[in-house]
Amino acid sequence: MHLMLVAGARPNFMKIAPLTWELKARSGVDFTLVHTGQHYDRQMSELFFEQLEIPEPAYNLGVGSGTHAVQTAEIIRRFEPVVIERRPDAVVVVGDVNSTVACALTAVKLGIPVAHVEAGLRSFDRSMPEEINRVVTDAISDWLFVSEPSGVANLENEGVPAGRIHFVGNVMIDTLLAMRDLSERSDVLQQLAVDSQSYSVVTLHRPTNVDEPAVLSGLLQALARVAQESPIIFPVHPRTRAAVQKLSGADLSNIRLIEPLGYLEFMKLVAHARLVLTDSGGLQEETTILGIPCLTLRKNTERPVTVAEGTNTLVGMDPAQIVDHGLRALRAGNRRNQPPRFWDGQAAKRVIDVLLNDVTRGRSAASA
Ligand code: UD1
Repeated sequence: MHLMLVAGARPNFMKIAPLTWELKARSGVDFTLVHTGQHYDRQMSELFFEQLEIPEPAYNLGVGSGTHAVQTAEIIRRFEPVVIERRPDAVVVVGDVNSTVACALTAVKLGIPVAHVEAGLRSFDRSMPEEINRVVTDAISDWLFVSEPSGVANLENEGVPAGRIHFVGNVMIDTLLAMRDLSERSDVLQQLAVDSQSYSVVTLHRPTNVDEPAVLSGLLQALARVAQESPIIFPVHPRTRAAVQKLSGADLSNIRLIEPLGYLEFMKLVAHARLVLTDSGGLQEETTILGIPCLTLRKNTERPVTVAEGTNTLVGMDPAQIVDHGLRALRAGNRRNQPPRFWDGQAAKRVIDVLLNDVTRGRSAASA
């Protein structure tokens, strides 16, 4: 049996890692890892492969950056010959980036069944590129592996047959739990010369937040006010760095812009923060498990369990609201919560159990 796994952008790597660990531990199954090259800087890609012990990809498609159409088309064009050459029994895609939808589409058109890990999440905001990627990928996938109950409800509401929906939990949390001790050993706090619980962490990279100078400048003003109470460390995504550099006169006192960090360093930084302010999807989930208060600078979230059961609060992009919530959260301190169901380090195992069982049965049915 042969599975082809696809990863392309930074948030994919921590989702693909536990699937590769699990597959390496099983007998009777081969896998091929394909990196589309959507992310390519060492700090955005290679470092994650090293730290998370993800095997060297058998193929790197080297697509790089581009408009949505160019990037998506280029992934499809370069992935197709790989699928034709290897003819896997199934292609596994994760998350909601352009590589996810492009590779799912390529495989399904070649008659190869597709498994989508992290299926069913919906922000119901179709101006968000990831929402389009989620809706399209789910519509064409054969297995929908879901991380939280809202995902099951969303897929049922869209009429997906129950047999395709598998509530398995969160593979990214598998990685967080597996790497927790190693991450704690990172000396990133000493390197940055900060004490535990003495700072807040910010990440921003969504086009809606960083591409429009007026919006970005309002967000930075609000962050500067919060930083007066608790200095901010801001590992800057390449897209955001370009946008910040174009802004003139932004007040960045008490906000330290640093290069993107590796996984182990970043998780240590987050685990010891007083507060996280972010527009990332994954960080809403990681802070939920780490018990760190998280303010999400977006109007919606496709991960509502992090608000209902976790430490996340949706605050939108209005600077006054961000300041208000930020100052209140700093005063309130940490919140410990029960992890959401199946965020227990076993999600990848559940995914692989289902896939191996179904692919084997499918094969025996076909040969009968
Ligand atoms: C992509 C994903 C987004 C995810 C994010 C995490 C899509 C539609 N978006 O957004 O869902 O949350 O990754 O980072 O797939 N760049 C570099 N080096 C790199 C990669 C990118 O400098 O290694 C710069 C380039 O200028 C590029 C820009 O970042 O144009 C944006 O990269 P892109 O892959 O288009 O989207 P992200 O914003 O990273």
